[in-house]
Amino acid sequence: MALVTTTNMFKKAYEGGYAIGAFNVNNMEIIQGITEAAQELNSPVILQVSKGARAYANATYLQKLVEAAVIETGLDMALHLDHGDTFETCKSCIDGGFTSVMIDASHHSFEENIKITKQVVEYAHDRGVVVEAELGQLAGVEDEVNVSDDNASYTRPEEVEEFVGKTGVDSLAIAIGTSHGAFKFTGEPKLRFDILEAITQILPGFPIVLHGASSVIPEYVDMINKFGGDMPGAQGVPEEMLRQAAKSAVCKINIDSDIRLAVTGTIRKYFHDNPSHFDPRQYLKPARTAVKEMVAHKIKNVLGSDGKA
Ligand code: G3H
Ligand code: 13P
Ligand code: ZN
Repeated sequence: MALVTTTNMFKKAYEGGYAIGAFNVNNMEIIQGITEAAQELNSPVILQVSKGARAYANATYLQKLVEAAVIETGLDMALHLDHGDTFETCKSCIDGGFTSVMIDASHHSFEENIKITKQVVEYAHDRGVVVEAELGQLAGVEDEVNVSDDNASYTRPEEVEEFVGKTGVDSLAIAIGTSHGAFKFTGEPKLRFDILEAITQILPGFPIVLHGASSVIPEYVDMINKFGGDMPGAQGVPEEMLRQAAKSAVCKINIDSDIRLAVTGTIRKYFHDNPSHFDPRQYLKPARTAVKEMVAHKIKNVLGSDGKA
């Protein structure tokens, strides 16, 4: 058991027609919920830390909590930087012991994206760390960057071969219609599987990553709305579409919003039912259980990664 790169995980996932869940972590309870589910189902798992999570929790705390989860569960896990925005952020994570980093220079020009990504790849590979990059832009909010639906641009299949060839990147996040957050579609959900298929033809065997892949589980949105919240119109990627993606070249499926909804819905209900309680352990415990149940559901019914650790 150790922190490992995603290389073998992705190879097995690609060949086996399933995907690995990459779950965003921000505190101990979230890490415990995710990794206990992975342990019980003997599933590979990626824990990812965003720039926002590093600012909130301090990267050292999160890293040590993830190392504790490896010891407790006996599972191999990848520790990944989500949406690294600069070479310096990636370097700091690589130097600190992350096994995988994402450099997200997708908002730069194609040439600049290649240049920054290549720099990160060279530094990472010299140290045994793998790199994910992004081509195309998702709509939605990530940290301070807010991309409107109008500005979201699908990945252009004709660019992927040059990008992967020139950068040496290990996996590629693509934009096919998913977006970050809890409000992904205003009308009928639609993903461009034709773009994914075209990319797969050009890069056979190459691992593809899907960001913005929460299904915005209605049970938790309903719970939030029922117990004092207000999230009308929240909508995610239908699970059937995610199952389809998991069977394809998509080897990594990113999930954050579903964790947030599970935690928040559960805590809202807890305080409705127990208005006089004030011990954080009392409401964080059911929140942790909700994360565990939600992740177990994803592993079994969406990702298909159970039994594959
Ligand atoms: O892609 C974005 C993730 O949901 C992380 O969000 O930067 O607010 O932690 P965050
Ligand atoms: P969601 O907002 O759909 O959970 O996406 C998370 C993500 O892509 C993290 O990088
Ligand atoms: Zn993302």
